[in-house]
Amino acid sequence: MNILLLGSGGRENALAWKIKQSNKVGNLFIAPGNAGTHLIGQNVELSITDFPAIKQFVLDNNVDMVVVGPEEPLVKGVYDFFVNDEEVKHIPVVGPSKKGAELEGSKDFAKQFMIRHNIPTARYKSFTLDQLDEAYAFLGELEAPYVLKADGLAAGKGVLIIQDLEEAKAELKEMLSGMFGDASRTVVIEEFLSGIECSVFVLTDGDSYKILPVAKDYKRIGEGDTGLNTGGMGAVSPVSFADDIFMKKVEDRIVKPTIEGLKKDNIIYKGFIFLGLIEVKGEPMVIEYNVRMGDPETEAVMLRIKSDLVSLLEGVANGDLGNKELLIDDRYAVTVMLVSGGYPGDYEKNKEITGLDTVDGSILFHAGTKLSDGKVLTNGGRVIAVSSYGNTKEEALAASFENAEKISFDKKYYRKDIGFDLK
Ligand code: AMP
Ligand code: GLY
Repeated sequence: MNILLLGSGGRENALAWKIKQSNKVGNLFIAPGNAGTHLIGQNVELSITDFPAIKQFVLDNNVDMVVVGPEEPLVKGVYDFFVNDEEVKHIPVVGPSKKGAELEGSKDFAKQFMIRHNIPTARYKSFTLDQLDEAYAFLGELEAPYVLKADGLAAGKGVLIIQDLEEAKAELKEMLSGMFGDASRTVVIEEFLSGIECSVFVLTDGDSYKILPVAKDYKRIGEGDTGLNTGGMGAVSPVSFADDIFMKKVEDRIVKPTIEGLKKDNIIYKGFIFLGLIEVKGEPMVIEYNVRMGDPETEAVMLRIKSDLVSLLEGVANGDLGNKELLIDDRYAVTVMLVSGGYPGDYEKNKEITGLDTVDGSILFHAGTKLSDGKVLTNGGRVIAVSSYGNTKEEALAASFENAEKISFDKKYYRKDIGFDLK
């Protein structure tokens, strides 16, 4: 079968790598892809939100399945576009319907969903600008630090955690007045939860589900989890505290009620669900839902899936995921992200990357790269994910760090303490 994968990051390179291992795959197209996906399949110049252009490409190239990497096309309704179009409605899109994608597209929707279906999450209320006094009063009921979340998509920047009440009130007013454009016209204020986080990924056909390997990502730019938030500086799988007892609670209290809740609410969901969880005194709670795989978690998680991913995706499309087998590799898999100096603030692009062919014992997934005159150039803040297996976390990390040193580009930076907080 021919597959079109939408996206251009490290997550998509890792998905492409895993998809291409399947003997079911003929042509693999990645739109728009990067210099790494170019080595695996065929990159195509398409905007991932131009649905008519995607449809035309699918028809012209006999594409049998569309796999969506990032959230934006899902939130904008790529699933519904296909289902409602006579010419392409038979071609499955792996991802939720537009309504299902609201789990990521609207934090207020996600919170209401969790409350409705009894899924453990932080206490909250949502407000708009005309409710400012009530919002201030609610902040007054909570204890510091204060968590303010823009309701809509805000490129990962829409969550503020503030120590001081007066400052929180001032920031709240700014948010409601349009600090993140329309995304923050509604703000979710919630109770702060203290604990350690992990990412749990679920693949569902809307009825049955598979829980993929759990991972932990490292969001801050600086070692010891300091400094600004990034898209993610590295990931480790498995996660020591997410043991069988914890994962059983996750399945019973979060995964099952989520799938059941979607069914009860008549929300079509055939794709990946990303549960951003926090462990509070041994109990899992949901910090957020995303409607896609995580990045850089995917660059570790894909290494641990032994089964044919395409067969699982077919199960999603055909509604027989329950009959498929998911085999997990017991080894550790880690990823260390090489980033451009200055990221997540200003950074330069178009720096030549060398040493890629000297890497040994790790798998490279390109995040922000492009090809130019036969050279691989940096093309983003996150540049290359260096992923490795190991019998221990330390062994896997040692391989990634050693290979991270072999790759060079101007102002390369990476965190040398990925996994520091796990046993
Ligand atoms: P979100 O975009 O909802 O994942 O929030 C971004 C990050 O903010 C999360 O990964 C957490 O580290 C943190 N965060 C969000 N909500 C809370 C909360 N209620 N308590 C503590 N930390 C939170
Ligand atoms: N690694 C977090 C995310 O993909 O949102």
